[in-house]
Amino acid sequence: MRSFENQFKNLYDATDKFHIMGKDLDNLVPITMDDIVPNVNLPGDVYFKLSDDNFVVIGREGTREQFKELHFFDKIRNSNIYIRKPDLRKFSSLKVHSANEIMKSDKVPVEAKVNALSHTLNTVFTSIDQLGFSNEALGNTKFIANSVLKIINDTPKLTSLMTLMNSISEDLIKHSMAVSMVSALISQSKGWNNPSILEKMALGALLHDIGLKEYPKEFLSKPRVDYTPEDLEYYQRHSFRGIEILRTVENVPQEVMAIVYEHHENSIGQGYPRGLRDVRLHPFSKVVSLADTFCELTFKDAQKPTPRDPEEAVQFIEHTLGQPFNKECFTALKNILTFGIRKASIKIV
Ligand SMILES: [Fe+2]
Ligand SMILES: [Fe+2]
Repeated sequence: MRSFENQFKNLYDATDKFHIMGKDLDNLVPITMDDIVPNVNLPGDVYFKLSDDNFVVIGREGTREQFKELHFFDKIRNSNIYIRKPDLRKFSSLKVHSANEIMKSDKVPVEAKVNALSHTLNTVFTSIDQLGFSNEALGNTKFIANSVLKIINDTPKLTSLMTLMNSISEDLIKHSMAVSMVSALISQSKGWNNPSILEKMALGALLHDIGLKEYPKEFLSKPRVDYTPEDLEYYQRHSFRGIEILRTVENVPQEVMAIVYEHHENSIGQGYPRGLRDVRLHPFSKVVSLADTFCELTFKDAQKPTPRDPEEAVQFIEHTLGQPFNKECFTALKNILTFGIRKASIKIV
């Protein structure tokens, strides 16, 4: 690190472009290259971490990022990039603005749209985690929910949709978008095609695990079979933590709050946190809890490198888990596999 630091100092001395910053360190938050919109002016200063108390500016607010031109680009590609915490809001809204342009374009392939949306959701989630939930964060997540609905509408094959979602690299983002997609599909299969219902369903499903965002990555990558009773209790708290996070904004729809709180409940009363039975669960939670389990079984993640295919997953839910979910929702899911995806009118954002 020492010689690397000297390289920076040489660069700084030589060009006068870079500044060593030793104060105000608590105000910095880590981001990734995916949080930065390329080819537009930076909405805030970007720093590179040399050591715990030594950061250098590698991009100035209002200038084009030129990270690739830095000779140490390989070192900044995936880690050690920081911005000032209050600037997260600006980075996040720029990311949403850019994703909106990408979504509107007919020339951009759907794979690139999903890629842009997943990075945007990651930035929005980081912003929620660091700055708390806000009306702006709610609006940004609504935009992503409607974009997921549009992707579904434009890609009417379950296998193609699953391939698209599987291309997302970050586990929590992939899972949140996949559950949003499958919840909307189950909803449509049940005949719930009203755009407002679909938006709330997709939004609640996107946010259902928001309580996990603040959990340490090492904890989340620990195999569930190795959880101690304390680990399990801590993990199960994420449903409640989720609604605590969302509660700070007054106009979060009640349906969304119910989804976040009840997504680990099931119809036979063996879920958590309250062990409620079918009649006491919100109709939207019944959809998302099934979609959540289906996605856990069918999508690749660190816990499960070889997932089941959709038919095997449905068999597993029916015969191994004893089909603990709402019957109509489960039939709706099976109908998607048997008869394909129903088209619905989607509000285009
Ligand atoms: Fe969860
Ligand atoms: Fe989940």
